[in-house]
Amino acid sequence: MRGVFITFEGPDGSGKTTQIKLLEQYFKEKGYDILITREPGGTKISEQIRSVILDKNNIEMDSITEALLYAASRAQHVAEFIRPALLKGKAIICDRFVDSSIVYQGIGRSLGIDFVKKINDMAIGGTEPNITFLLKVSPEIGLARKFSSHECNRLDMENLEFHDEVYEGYLKLEKLYPERVIGIDARKSIEEVHREIINIINNRLEL
Ligand code: TYD
Repeated sequence: MRGVFITFEGPDGSGKTTQIKLLEQYFKEKGYDILITREPGGTKISEQIRSVILDKNNIEMDSITEALLYAASRAQHVAEFIRPALLKGKAIICDRFVDSSIVYQGIGRSLGIDFVKKINDMAIGGTEPNITFLLKVSPEIGLARKFSSHECNRLDMENLEFHDEVYEGYLKLEKLYPERVIGIDARKSIEEVHREIINIINNRLEL
C-alpha cells in the first residue's frame, strides 16, 4: 500500500478520535506504517494557528478571518507534513480536513461553498484524501457526548442551529462525493463502527 490519505469527518463528539485510534492499531497489527494527524494542527505552526482559532476568548473573530486561519493552518500542514509523507509512500489518517471547512465555514458561517473551496484549493494544491469516513450522529447526541467528556472550544459553543446546519452540510457532501465520502452510522457501538470501517478499508485499499 503506497501513499494513502484517509480523513475522518463528523460533528463534534461523533467518536472520530476513538475510531482513528482503533484504525491505527489495526494498520499497525497488519505491519503498516501509519501516521496520525489532525486539523487544525499537525505541525508546530499549524498548532499555533489552532490555539488562536479555538480560543474561547476570541469572540470577536470575523468569519472570513476564521476561514482563512483554518486554510492557513492547513496549507502549512499539507506543505510540511502531509504531501512529503504521501510522496514517500506513507499512509496518513487525518482527523478533519477541507470538508470541515466546507461545512463549518461555508455552510455554518454562511460564507458559501465556492469561497471556502477557493481558499482551500490554494491551501492544499491538489492533495486530496483517497477516502473520507463521515461518522454520522446528530449534533444533539454528539454535543452531549462531547460536553460530558471534554472541555468545549469556541466552535462547540455555537448554538444548536449552527451545528444542525453543519450536519446537513455533511449529508450533502456524502451525496455529492459518493465515491470518496463514506457515511457510517456512528450511533452504533464502537466495535460495530470499527468493523464497518475495516471492511471498507479492506475492500477499497486491498490490504
Ligand atoms: P476539536 O477540539 O479538534 O474538535 P473535534 O474533536 O470535534 O474534531 O476542534 C476542532 C473544531 O474546529 C471543531 O469544532 C470543528 C472546527 N473546524 C472548523 O470549523 N473548520 C475546519 O476546517 C476544521 C478542520 C475544524
